[in-house]
Amino acid sequence: PRVAVIVVAAGSGQRLGAGVPKAFVGIDAHTVLRHALHGVFDGPLAQVIVVAPAERVGDALTELHEAAGDRHELASVVEGGATRQASVAAGLHAVWPDVELVLVHDAARALTPATVFTRVVAALDDGDDAVLPVLPVVDTVKRVDGDVVVEAVDRSVLAAAQTPQGFRRAVLEAAYARADADHTDDAALVQAAGVSVRTVPGDDRSFKITTPTDLDRARALLRPDAP
Ligand code: CTP
Ligand code: MG
Repeated sequence: PRVAVIVVAAGSGQRLGAGVPKAFVGIDAHTVLRHALHGVFDGPLAQVIVVAPAERVGDALTELHEAAGDRHELASVVEGGATRQASVAAGLHAVWPDVELVLVHDAARALTPATVFTRVVAALDDGDDAVLPVLPVVDTVKRVDGDVVVEAVDRSVLAAAQTPQGFRRAVLEAAYARADADHTDDAALVQAAGVSVRTVPGDDRSFKITTPTDLDRARALLRPDAP
């Protein structure tokens, strides 16, 4: 395929504190990783690379095989690194030669709808080098210095970044080859390499499961009577 999706799932989930790596925590009958993979496989045809903790590669393969169905030949698992950036780099090394577009997705954004993957690929096909799904910031935001409010920040110039973030493959590889600092997402990494990043609308369901409250929200959304 011309698209690859790297699903980073190698984090430990310290803030969730579930006692097992976050991607392997159950939301309902299925794990965070399995739900994330449902969104991926419902999206555009793609090579799918799951980046898993070293001790969970076997479990990740099982999840991947069950989620992939008849697309299982497009799917593989690689071992992650100590940081998200190192995990993405590990995934990037496994991308097949014919792939032109690479999407990087947090497994922790488990309920991301397939439509977001389609939207990101469409923006790349329109010619953008780097595409970031965003939501408007709804909170009133302040700049602070310790416990002192310095000023209000105009939220109309802010956006909350989500994944999947999409890139022309050569652009992402070049940015990773020269990355020196640690960045929290791939859009920041390519921007540091001088690439301009275009936004597309994100989705409410793409929130990241970070804390126990986020896990509760995911569970509520998956209940049969959820709105
Ligand atoms: N991730 C990864 N490799 C790492 C760190 C993070 O693949 N070394 C992945 C996580 O699995 C997650 C995504 O990056 O899907 C976003 O990271 P985050 O929400 O911070 O997950 P964790 O690092 O696992 O959580 P915490 O920071 O609370 O420990
Ligand atoms: Mg983390």
